Amino acid sequence: MPTCAFIGLGVMGYPMAGYLQNAGNQTTVYNRTISKAEKWVEAYGGSLGATPCEAAQDADVVMLCVGNDDDVRSVVYGESGVLEGMSSGSVLVDHTTASAFLAKELEGACAEKGVGFVDAPISGGQAGAESGQLSVMCGGSQEAFAKIEPIIDVYSKISILVGPSGHGQLTKMVNQVCIGGLLQGLSEALEFAKRSNLDTEKVLEAISQGASASWYLSNRSETMLAGEFDHGFAVDWMRKDFGIVFEEAERIGFNLPVTVMVDGFFAELQEKGHSRSDVSSLIELLTEK
Ligand SMILES: NC(=O)c1ccc[n+]([C@@H]2O[C@H](COP(=O)([O-])OP(=O)(O)OC[C@H]3O[C@@H](n4cnc5c(N)ncnc54)[C@H](OP(=O)(O)O)[C@@H]3O)[C@@H](O)[C@H]2O)c1
Repeated sequence: MPTCAFIGLGVMGYPMAGYLQNAGNQTTVYNRTISKAEKWVEAYGGSLGATPCEAAQDADVVMLCVGNDDDVRSVVYGESGVLEGMSSGSVLVDHTTASAFLAKELEGACAEKGVGFVDAPISGGQAGAESGQLSVMCGGSQEAFAKIEPIIDVYSKISILVGPSGHGQLTKMVNQVCIGGLLQGLSEALEFAKRSNLDTEKVLEAISQGASASWYLSNRSETMLAGEFDHGFAVDWMRKDFGIVFEEAERIGFNLPVTVMVDGFFAELQEKGHSRSDVSSLIELLTEK
């Protein structure tokens, strides 16, 4: 079985690394806050690296799932970074939602060491990570993807090589643009139903199989109506992702009017203390208090 290293045991990385170890891939983990890595080793076995470099030594595949572009750079480069420890023929997989620019930069840095690279952002949220049912959008060479596909299969329901380096990140941007407008529409629809004194349970039953069906409608409507947002995908993360989208949109000279408007609503939510709330808290801006 290929050996693995996993850097970043957050909400997503912790269970993903667990799936690797449980599947028989000897996995070494690194986490900046060491107590999380110790807890992981206690729960799953495997081993612990004192630095990203130490964790990556002897690994056939190294996965990252940290915060943003700068966080990725800080665990990849330098003496304690993963690249220092990786050998020729191994593959670096970045599951962080980051820029397409970074993906191309990493591909170049990896190539200098004979290391393969795949940008592989994920969708499916905490629940998808915990149930091993993530969607993984990949960019890179066919050769690098072929090496990692059977391994990342343990925590994904689908992984697709969309195109060369950066195309995984660009696909994740498409995903986030879809979600922004969709969530605002769902928020307005649910609030409209409430203010029309409809039986919202019956409304959801009636419309959930029709043309307005979506993951958010099926999985978030009830909690949105109940005003529960202490779960899921944080507003802060979405604003980070939209920032990446807007940079890319500017680069290609394309306007995203609805996404820009929804980003403004997310900024309002941050001001109201909803930074760590699920993105479905958009409905809070419409709710009558
Ligand atoms: N949560 C979701 O539903 C979801 C869904 C899809 C995609 N994503 C994306 O997946 C990535 C991770 O999300 P998450 O929810 O797992 O985040 P999280 O729970 O906040 O975890 C982030 C992880 O990255 C580590 N980290 C951050 N900055 C670092 C740095 N400079 N050096 C070393 N380690 C660093 C953190 O270490 P510490 O433990 O020391 O803080 C932690 O292990 C993000 O890019 C996010 O946009 C998240």
